Parts: sequence; C-alpha cells; structure tokens
Amino acid sequence: CVSSMVSDIEDCGVTLVSKTLACSADKLFEGNQVKQIQLSLLKWYDVARRRLPWRGDMPPFGVQDQVKAEVKIESAACNPAIVWQEQRQRVPPYFTWVSEIMCQQTRVETVIEYFLRWIKKFPTIEALANASEEDVNLMWSGLGYYRRARFLHHGAKTVVELHGGTLPSSVQELKAIPGIGDYTAGAIASIAYAKPAPLVDGNVIRVLSRMKAVAGNAKNKHVVTLCWKLARELVSAARPGDFNQSLMELGATICKPTNPKCSQCPLSIHCAALAETKAPKLMKKPLVFDLAENDRERAIARQVATSVTKYPLRVTKAPPKEEIWCVYVIVCEGKYLLLKRPNLGLLANQWEFPSLPWFREDQALPSYACRQALINKFLDENFGIKTNINTVRVDLGVKEHVFSHRKHQMYVEKLQLSFKEGSHGMSLARMQMDGGKECCWVDVVEMKVSTGDS
Ligand code: ADE
Repeated sequence: CVSSMVSDIEDCGVTLVSKTLACSADKLFEGNQVKQIQLSLLKWYDVARRRLPWRGDMPPFGVQDQVKAEVKIESAACNPAIVWQEQRQRVPPYFTWVSEIMCQQTRVETVIEYFLRWIKKFPTIEALANASEEDVNLMWSGLGYYRRARFLHHGAKTVVELHGGTLPSSVQELKAIPGIGDYTAGAIASIAYAKPAPLVDGNVIRVLSRMKAVAGNAKNKHVVTLCWKLARELVSAARPGDFNQSLMELGATICKPTNPKCSQCPLSIHCAALAETKAPKLMKKPLVFDLAENDRERAIARQVATSVTKYPLRVTKAPPKEEIWCVYVIVCEGKYLLLKRPNLGLLANQWEFPSLPWFREDQALPSYACRQALINKFLDENFGIKTNINTVRVDLGVKEHVFSHRKHQMYVEKLQLSFKEGSHGMSLARMQMDGGKECCWVDVVEMKVSTGDS
C-alpha cells in the first residue's frame, strides 16, 4: 500500500534528476565512497554470511557463521583477505556454476540439499556431460524451471567439447556457453576466478536502487542498466567474488523487500533511501534518480519515503479500462442469436450474444429506453426484423465482467421474438451479416457444444 510508506507532506517533495543525467554520469559514487562501501560490506559479510557448501564451508549449512565472530571482525578490519583465506576451502568453478543456476528463482536455503545431491551424483563437468537426460531431470526434480537443468546439461557438453572440461574464466567466453547469461558469467568470473566482474540480480537491484534512490521499477530496463553501472563501479578488485556475494546476501537477509533491517545495515550511512525517510525532519530535499515509466510512478517518486521499501518502485498495473456494453439475449422458437467476434483482439473468434458498445462524452449511462431503441435499429438494419407488441422484453439489469486489463459493464436485455419458421433466415444454421460478420441461431445444447461449455 503506497500510502503507508509515503509521506504526503506536500512541500517536502523529492527533487528528481533526469534520466539522461542519471544514465550518462561518469562516476556515480563520490570520493572514497566506493572504498568505504567495499570495506563495510566485506567486514559485515565476513561475520554475517551464511555457511554454504558452494562457498567452501563445512557443515552446518544455512546458518550464520557466528563462531569466532568477534575475532573475525578484528582481523577483518586489519586484513579482510586473511579471514577469507583461513575460513574456507577452494571449490571448483563447476560448483559455482551449478549453485548459481540453482539459486536463480529458488531460495538459497532450499538449494543446499539439491546442490549436495547433485554434486554427489555429478561431481565434475565431465560426469554431468555424460549423464542421461533422465538422471539430470531426476536430480533437478522438485527445483522447478526445468529449462535450467537442460541448459546446465547442454552447457556441460559444450564445456567438454570446446574447453576440455574446464570452465573458461572470462565473462565473454562464459557467455558463449548455453544457459550462461550476464549474471551467471559475472558470478563465475568473480566468485570462481576472482575477476573484478560485476553482477546484478533481483537482490542487487533492490540494494542498489535503495542506496541511490533509483525511482523506477525493478523490471525497467533503464533501472537494470543503471544497476549494472553501479555494480561495475563498486565491485572490489581484491575480493570480487565475496563482494558480489555480500551484495546478494545483504539483499536476502537485511535489505529485504518488506521489513528491511535498516538498523543492522552496514551501508545505512550510504543509503539515499534511508536519508529520504529522514528528510522531512531535516527539511532537506533528497535527489532521486528519475526512471519512472509513467505518471503514476512519477507521482510516487515525488513523495518523500517513510520507508526504504519505496525503492525500487512497485510495478504498477494500470487499472482496468471500463467499458459499457448493451447486450441482448434474443430468443426465437428456442434458438438464441449469436454473433462471432472479430478474429483479432479480446476474445477473438468467440461467439457472443449481440453486444453494442455504449459511449457518451458526458458519461451518461444507457437508459432502458435507449438500449431498446439501439437493438430495434440493429435488428431492423441487419436482419429486417422489426420488434413489435408481440415481442416479450425483459430488462435483466447490469452484469460486470473483469478481464485482466478491461472491465465490462454489461446492460442486458432479453427479447423473445415470435416469428414463423422460415422467415428472416431463421431456419439457417448460420448466416452472414452485412460486413461479413458471422451469426447463427442455436439452441442451448448447440450453444454448449460450440462454446465447449458443459
Ligand atoms: N543468490 C544467488 N547466488 C548467491 C550467492 N552466491 N550468495 C548469496 N546469495 C545468492
């Protein structure tokens, strides 16, 4: 709910910087901010990170490494790299690859068991390349998004064929392997080969868009591009793999989508979103990267945040467009008149009761008299049918139907016509109206068959 996270103090509005400025700036962080962010984040990661098998940890997995935390903080402050080297075993790049593919769309805690089973069954890239499709699917079974398993299998075969079974280390070569995109290439290059390559996933987008108050939604391509630029500027040359994992870890455990733990965040002093929540008290207008896609997003961006959860902006769907239709259930000797919808657009090629659109500039609703006049004219012009005093007419009132992006208010009238068999094309199973529109008279049984309804 927007109102719970955004203050409506009007004159404390946020100042937006233009998209061009946001995207063309050479350096997005000032002075030694990058160094400070790297130090704070790595220091936090060394004590708060979860123990995971693909990080070279020993069991227990999934828990924070609290043991010797204080000693680690102290030594990390002196030389973070020492702590990193002391605590963990090196793992093959293949482990990084498998874990990063498994972690896409799946929580880290869930992945642990699958990862351990997988590595036991396919301990090397060769073993995976030689595995049967059935075994690969079996080992993946339960993780979902099976395309990932197929790509991993296909990728392993490619690595054996083109690289003799060893994963290459450059982002460019990695991206040439089936199933490895920007994110996975950045993860393998930085985590497995210590290359200063950035990476951006959903957690990283959230952390960075809050840190820089990026006013756009996480699916917006300008937001994604800006986050890659920020990540590239930030990545630590000394510990790129740990740095990238620390950004993701922060997003997963502290800078969460809801209920973020800002008081425990090692980056709070660098966070523009958090500064914005304090802005009304400081009477300061924060700068925000304006990447809003529409007026609704821009309006939210301009309001001062009361929580960092304002960023990234929620993907807002336009409310369904309201349309008014006059619908007619026309019955004659037990048969109903149906018209076929156009072969493009909403409910393409479906059969429907005759429906006439209603639109008035002044937004007046259709009176019953108007609806009657509309169908009288329609029946006369298209079928030569003239309603008369023998026509039994009932106003069935208004029915609402909501589609994903449209809402139909349907004003329904039932007309019972009385004609003799053979007149007005009544005996034809199907007819064409002027303009080629198909129509037919069907009884209830035929209607169920043709609509597939039971
Ligand atoms: N999410 C995906 N990969 C991750 C990693 N290596 N560390 C933390 N979170 C992750």
